[in-house]
Amino acid sequence: MRVLVTGGAGFIGSHTVVSLIEAGHEPVIVDNLVNAKRSVVARIGRITGHEPELVEADVRDLDAMEKVLQSGYDACIHFAALKAVGESVEKPLLYYDNNVGGTFALLEALSGAEVKTFVFSSSATVYGDPDPATLPLLESSPIGAATNPYGWSKIMMEQILRDVQVSDPEWSISLLRYFNPVGAHQSGLLGEDPSGIPNNLMPYVAKVASGELSKVKVFGNDYPTPDGTGVRDFVHVADLADGHVAALEKRAGEQGVFTYNLGTGEGHSVLEVIAAYERQSGKPIPYEIVGRRAGDVASNWASVEKARLELDWQTTRDLDDMCADSWRWQQNSH
Ligand SMILES: NC(=O)c1ccc[n+]([C@@H]2O[C@H](COP(=O)([O-])OP(=O)(O)OC[C@H]3O[C@@H](n4cnc5c(N)ncnc54)[C@H](O)[C@@H]3O)[C@@H](O)[C@H]2O)c1
Repeated sequence: MRVLVTGGAGFIGSHTVVSLIEAGHEPVIVDNLVNAKRSVVARIGRITGHEPELVEADVRDLDAMEKVLQSGYDACIHFAALKAVGESVEKPLLYYDNNVGGTFALLEALSGAEVKTFVFSSSATVYGDPDPATLPLLESSPIGAATNPYGWSKIMMEQILRDVQVSDPEWSISLLRYFNPVGAHQSGLLGEDPSGIPNNLMPYVAKVASGELSKVKVFGNDYPTPDGTGVRDFVHVADLADGHVAALEKRAGEQGVFTYNLGTGEGHSVLEVIAAYERQSGKPIPYEIVGRRAGDVASNWASVEKARLELDWQTTRDLDDMCADSWRWQQNSH
């Protein structure tokens, strides 16, 4: 399949482009490089032997999207979005414009070009703060109230996509709800490169292991979890990438909206992550327990049975692999 990959130069997108090429598909990246570097394309080329085309454009630019689509596509995977939760609280209009507005323009252009197989980057954030008694989260679990504009933008876009599919049943839409994507490509050539102080746990831990930051702040050790720290379902970005290829191959052209959790189905606490990273990096990782962070939930992890049964997809990498690959990337890229 010839696949338009918006945000394909970013963290999850670049790994998915690798998986698409390795599965024999032809991805074309559209990215405005607001949070990515052009050099990613050459790195993908080094890994796969094929350098994908990168069109530098903003998905909100309808004319640009229409022009890109003139060359003919079978499907679109839509990663392009801004994702910094804290920044979304400070700049809600920017987030709604970029994330929701970008999706509008893209859908309009796709519809005009008769490209109606669409895979969307959603998030476990749509479940809000789940009752621990109801874990693991099923795709049928209630969608919660988001705690920030970024989360709301994902809930809104899921709803918009459902409405679009009702209005025109020819659409085949897969909503992929990611849990906590971490790790990096095994080659050490691709990974997450947050500018400034990372918001997410593993990139932060990586910078403590490398000595760039002095210690990990653990936000709360009084949650109702086995060691009191927050529990999350971490998923290796390379497994996540393969999930997109599976969704595309199983669902392309099939009318409907298909929702899948992509995680490992297993939760790990913040302290477990720190211990695994120490093991894999061989570096001490000092940490300090501080107060809870507003908006954090105690635990969440996915039921991944639906993706396993319907997409024939399951993760093959564990927490130690995630830490080992993250550490290799941390050392190679800095
Ligand atoms: N990383 C996570 O923890 C996580 C979790 C759940 C969902 N997601 C979603 O997955 C998707 C990819 O996330 P990521 O972690 O790879 O982030 P990322 O920032 O690395 O990738 C997003 C890419 O989109 C590009 N982009 C942003 N706005 C654009 C626009 N208007 N036009 C064109 N390109 C644009 C950026 O330059 C970047 O390359 C996002 O939709 C994100 O919300 C991420």
